[in-house]
Amino acid sequence: MKFKRIKLKRIILTSMTLLAVSPALLAKASFDFSINVSAEKKNHVIFVDDIDSLKGMASKLNENSDGQLSKLIALNKFKAEKGEILHLQMVADSESILIIGTKDSDGLSGPELQNLGGKIASSFNSAQDDIDVAIHVENLQTNEASPSAHLAYGYHLRHYSFDRYKTKKSEGQSDVSLISANAEESSNLYNNDLAYIAEGVHLTRDLATEPGNHMYPQAFVDVAKAKFKGIKNIDIDVLDMRDIRKLKMGALEGVGKGSVNDPRLLVIKYNGNEKGNAPIALVGKGITFDTGGISLKQNTGMWAMKSDLAGAAAVAGALYANAKRGEKVNLIGFMPLAENMPSQDAIRPGDVLETMKGVSIEIISTDAEGRLILADAVYYAQQKYKPRMLLNIATLTGSAGRALSDEYAAVITRDFELSRKMMTVGERSGENVWPLPLHPNHFKQIESPIADIKNSGAGNPGASIGAAVVATFIDDDLPWVHLDIAGVDWLESDIDVAPKGSQGWGVRFMDQLVRDNLN
Ligand code: BES
Ligand code: MN
Ligand code: ZN
Repeated sequence: MKFKRIKLKRIILTSMTLLAVSPALLAKASFDFSINVSAEKKNHVIFVDDIDSLKGMASKLNENSDGQLSKLIALNKFKAEKGEILHLQMVADSESILIIGTKDSDGLSGPELQNLGGKIASSFNSAQDDIDVAIHVENLQTNEASPSAHLAYGYHLRHYSFDRYKTKKSEGQSDVSLISANAEESSNLYNNDLAYIAEGVHLTRDLATEPGNHMYPQAFVDVAKAKFKGIKNIDIDVLDMRDIRKLKMGALEGVGKGSVNDPRLLVIKYNGNEKGNAPIALVGKGITFDTGGISLKQNTGMWAMKSDLAGAAAVAGALYANAKRGEKVNLIGFMPLAENMPSQDAIRPGDVLETMKGVSIEIISTDAEGRLILADAVYYAQQKYKPRMLLNIATLTGSAGRALSDEYAAVITRDFELSRKMMTVGERSGENVWPLPLHPNHFKQIESPIADIKNSGAGNPGASIGAAVVATFIDDDLPWVHLDIAGVDWLESDIDVAPKGSQGWGVRFMDQLVRDNLN
């Protein structure tokens, strides 16, 4: 038995190096920002708010086509309603003209512009096809100073496909020119800031889409190390099983010990501010596969539990964005990583685990494992780093998904004002949250007859009970934000800024949170 295990780990070692170096996505996009169309472009994107008075490039293209454009608009009954799209092929000497309606859309927000950028990428099927396009950024009513940058950001977010395991790769190359008056500012905002968020989101999607046989705790660590290599002010600590045992993190150890792939606690520190400045702690659930353990999940849909590390992946993505743009902040990401497997060594229902904090937990369901690994991770974060704020993010409960579906992640705090602030952060970032309660009764429900607490209550409301377990490990006076993303991360169908599958939820939210410097 012992010998077999060592062999297994060897094999794993070779496959993991491969993973860390090969990109999941071959489709590339380049964005240039200019005042005029520099080279002949075959495809054009124009924004139209009134079909009876075409302006700017729209009117020019109409003239070039001897009025054909106008006729086609009428023929297709295009009304220029907000978000309406008409994609015309072969008009005069253009291969295609994509017309986007902007009627009555005064004050387009950043996320709305990003959605438009995503619509453009998907209209051109950008991940698959080569595309050479000029986006004429005019006739847009917005408060954003650089709408071009937001359009490019949205395009970049959508320009994604995961095809590492396909023989035929998606290799669509996009050459996008954004034409606007303030080209230089737009270029700065995109290249030194927004592009890094999109890269962070793609990193998160990669991690959450990788299958469990490739993405186990040490593999996550390897991918993160490769991705953060060479970035300024980054320090990485990796706690392995020995460290986890030494620190008495019995909950993280317990969840991880049923698997031949040992658990890890990955800590990525970004020191963008002075040394004494208290950090913001971001803690993400990193279950690399959730079978449920001995409390085994049912067969249907279990494959999707390969993305049960979406919280940890989002933390890595958000750190990446902040570090690359050099945000003036101290930020620490904590990613407890474990594989929840049933085995001879797995924890059982009824077992009692000792946490690093000293609080003992009776295991009612081994499938309520996320809160267990978070318990030790949030305690470690507070004890060792004294953060000024702690946010944890996790695919924690089916209950949060049923309550809020695709539109909102659940936010739970001890202080409703903080939840309100999080709703604003959400609106500004394009990733929305809605509050769920945390009531003294939820703590009553996790009282155990034989231990300090138990890891699940009678059932309802599941999201709040999960939060109560985590809250038990959070200092009372620490500003604390709990995000349950079980319902939002995995998309059953495309949205403007993401193809179906993992959307990398949380990178944009946490990026905005740090940017707004809320506390
Ligand atoms: N990873 C799951 C939650 C989940 C469900 C994520 C669906 C994404 C989609 C979590 O570990 C879990 O199993 N939660 C249980 C908790 C219960 C046993 C108290 C749940 O929600 O059913
Ligand atoms: Mn589970
Ligand atoms: Zn889980």
